Parts: sequence; C-alpha cells; structure tokens
Amino acid sequence: MICVKKLEQVLLEKKLKAKAIIAVDLFGLPADYPAIEMLSNEFGLKVIEDAAQGFGGNINGKRAGCFGDIATTSFFPAKPLGCYGDGGALFTNSDELAMLIRSYAIHGKGTDKYDNVRIGMNSRLDTIQAAILLEKLSVFENELDARNRIAARYSQALGKKYKVPQLPERYFSSWAQYTLVSNERNVDIQKLKDAGIPSMIYYKTCMHQQTAFANEVSSKQSFPIATKLSKQVFSLPMHPYLSPEEQNLICDTLLCDG
Ligand SMILES: Cc1ncc(COP(=O)(O)O)c(C=O)c1O
Repeated sequence: MICVKKLEQVLLEKKLKAKAIIAVDLFGLPADYPAIEMLSNEFGLKVIEDAAQGFGGNINGKRAGCFGDIATTSFFPAKPLGCYGDGGALFTNSDELAMLIRSYAIHGKGTDKYDNVRIGMNSRLDTIQAAILLEKLSVFENELDARNRIAARYSQALGKKYKVPQLPERYFSSWAQYTLVSNERNVDIQKLKDAGIPSMIYYKTCMHQQTAFANEVSSKQSFPIATKLSKQVFSLPMHPYLSPEEQNLICDTLLCDG
C-alpha cells in the first residue's frame, strides 16, 4: 500500500512531474485517503482510487469507491464483489468525467451513438455479468459480515504463530484476501498443498521489479519493506461460504509441527 510519508518526501523533492496520485486499496482495506487527500490538496494533484480490492471496505463509514476524483473497481471473480467473468466499473461525482468515461467506454461516442467524437474502446459491462452482479449485490452486506467473521476466526487461531493482518482504527475491511506473514512460507504452502488446500502469493514480484518498469526504476531505489514482504506473504482461502470445519482444517494444517 502506498506510503504517504515517502510520497510526500518525493513530492517535496520535486523530482516528479506528477499530475495524479493513483492509490491502490489492498486485501480489502482502503488506502490512507485522509492523508492522501491532504497531500493531493497541498500539491494540486488529482486522486484516482483503485478500489478493486477495497470494494466493500470503508474508513469511518466512507466506503471504498468514494475516495478521490475517480475510483475504479474490478468485478473479476476473485474480488469481493465478483461476477462470473470479466467486469469492472468506475465511480465519480463529476458529471463531466462521467460523460467522458461513458464516451471512452463505448468507442468514443458522442450524443449520437454512431458519431464517435474521440478515440475510445469497447469497455461495456456484459449484460449477463451485470445481471449476476445485481443478484450478488443483494447479498453483499451479508457476505461482508461473513468475511469479517471468518477473518476474525483466522486471526484468533493463527495470531500466535504468524503475523496476522491488523486493521487501523476506524477502518473496515472487505477481506479481499486474508494474508499472513511467515518466516517459513515455502514450508507452510507445502503443508497446505499436501492437505489439498489452495493458497496464493499476493504478490511475489513487487511493482519496482516488474519487467515493464525496468527502465523506470533506478538501482538506487530499493523499496526494502515491499521486497521483504514479497518473500514472506501468502494468502489463505477466503470467501463468505468457508465453513468453520474447513477453517479448522486449514488452521490445524498450518499449526501442526510435522
Ligand atoms: C488492486 C487491483 N487493481 C486492478 C486489478 C485489475 O482488475 P481487472 O483485471 O478486472 O482489470 C486487480 C485485479 O487483480 C487488482 O487486484
């Protein structure tokens, strides 16, 4: 998640010609928007919230997807509100931006659908996926409660052995992922695998290590915290329909010595 102190340092050094801050909500938690918004006001920057993993979470009751000038989300099946294929949405309070976004999403259309006034793309949400999302939205609040109950059970069972996720005060998580920090990640993953339990590493390659950014990141930039965590984290099964018995099996498997 974005480190606001570091961001402020970079902005103060004026080494960046920034126009906007893109903050990414992670694992169900919104980024630190109160601090990000203070910075964006100070430096005259727009804010874009990537709420794909924060969707359903909130800060002080203000929901993920409400922060910044534009927020984006993904309805990919693994997300808190997922459809059965690809889908996504953008949120904004600006009528002007909403008009532009709708236009870009439908081939750059103008007021006349067949008059394209700009170069756009096809980014329509498929009707079948939209129908699935409407049904899933009606049970979303219950699913959020269930995810929170499941996360609390995990933390209670595993907190003595692992570093478990901590929620900052007044934050509510949608638990897009339940992620542990382990000093023996490979051993843990193997134990789960042997018991037929899936797990995932989110993420083993940091942003600054992505091949696409090889020319953007200097060798002087080290990002030590992200690099260290990328070697320690792994995520457990997390969905609202995980039964207590399934959770017990997962926890017992991780806690056994063999
Ligand atoms: C934080 C975040 N942003 C964006 C995306 C991209 O979503 P999509 O593949 O639906 O465009 C993902 C998906 O994994 C994500 O986790």
